[in-house]
Amino acid sequence: MTAAQPIIRLDQVTKAFGVGRSFTAVDRLDLDVGTGQMLALLGKTGCGKSTIFNMIAGLTEPTSGIVTVDGRNPFRDFDAFRGKIAIVFQNDRLLPWRTAVQNVGLGLEMLDIPPKLRNETAMHWLGKLGLLGHENDYPHALSGGMRQRVSIARAFATDANILLCDEPFSALDEMTGRTLRAEFLKLVKENGKTAVFITHSINEALEIGDRLVVLKRPATIALDVSLQRNCTIENKEAIRGRIQDVLAS
Ligand SMILES: Nc1ncnc2c1ncn2[C@@H]1O[C@H](COP(=O)(O)OP(=O)(O)O)[C@@H](O)[C@H]1O
Ligand SMILES: [Mg+2]
Repeated sequence: MTAAQPIIRLDQVTKAFGVGRSFTAVDRLDLDVGTGQMLALLGKTGCGKSTIFNMIAGLTEPTSGIVTVDGRNPFRDFDAFRGKIAIVFQNDRLLPWRTAVQNVGLGLEMLDIPPKLRNETAMHWLGKLGLLGHENDYPHALSGGMRQRVSIARAFATDANILLCDEPFSALDEMTGRTLRAEFLKLVKENGKTAVFITHSINEALEIGDRLVVLKRPATIALDVSLQRNCTIENKEAIRGRIQDVLAS
């Protein structure tokens, strides 16, 4: 499926690891993500999702093929992406010696935003994530769900137009994860972000994505479907069935 205006593009991307690069984690992957799309990238553990994520985020380079984000190479032009891509990992990756508001302000600090504006912006996003009153708490004093709220606030605070999320809710209990997922989805849409959301959960992919790409080892596309916003329950169940078939085969 080709999006009208791809902002993220993988062209025949391969990533191999190990001695003599004998292990192929991603195999000649072609993937375009359109501006404003919420792509759920679904696959079993070990199928290469985080490897794809790391290449889009510019944290690693493909063995062959080309990754383009907003017209540039995210690995080679890494510095050009400061403030343009925001990342949420499974682990909140907060700095334990910084309070919630200081953690949210981290990306803004790196963008040289002056302290007053940094603080106002961080407080605004803490408010959006329901954390007012906890701004001066250190991560150890917050629950897992609250810490992940802080890291989502941090991702939105820089106003990056691309959000990359690698299983951000999978370490949370189901109820907490579901609530946060709904809030996250709303914020992504309200703020017109493009998001790539990695998950190993079919339910999560169906709740989050307006497009679902199912990967099979070694990270090749087994299914690529669009979900209309007003998709009926019957439609969703039909898609769920197709995903289950693909993952079981
Ligand atoms: N840095 C690495 N060195 C060697 N093998 C790796 C490395 N990163 C990932 N792999 C392997 O590549 C495969 C895909 O890993 P990963 O992308 O983390 O999968 P997922 O995120 O879908 O669980 C796994 O078999 C993993 O062991
Ligand atoms: Mg992973």
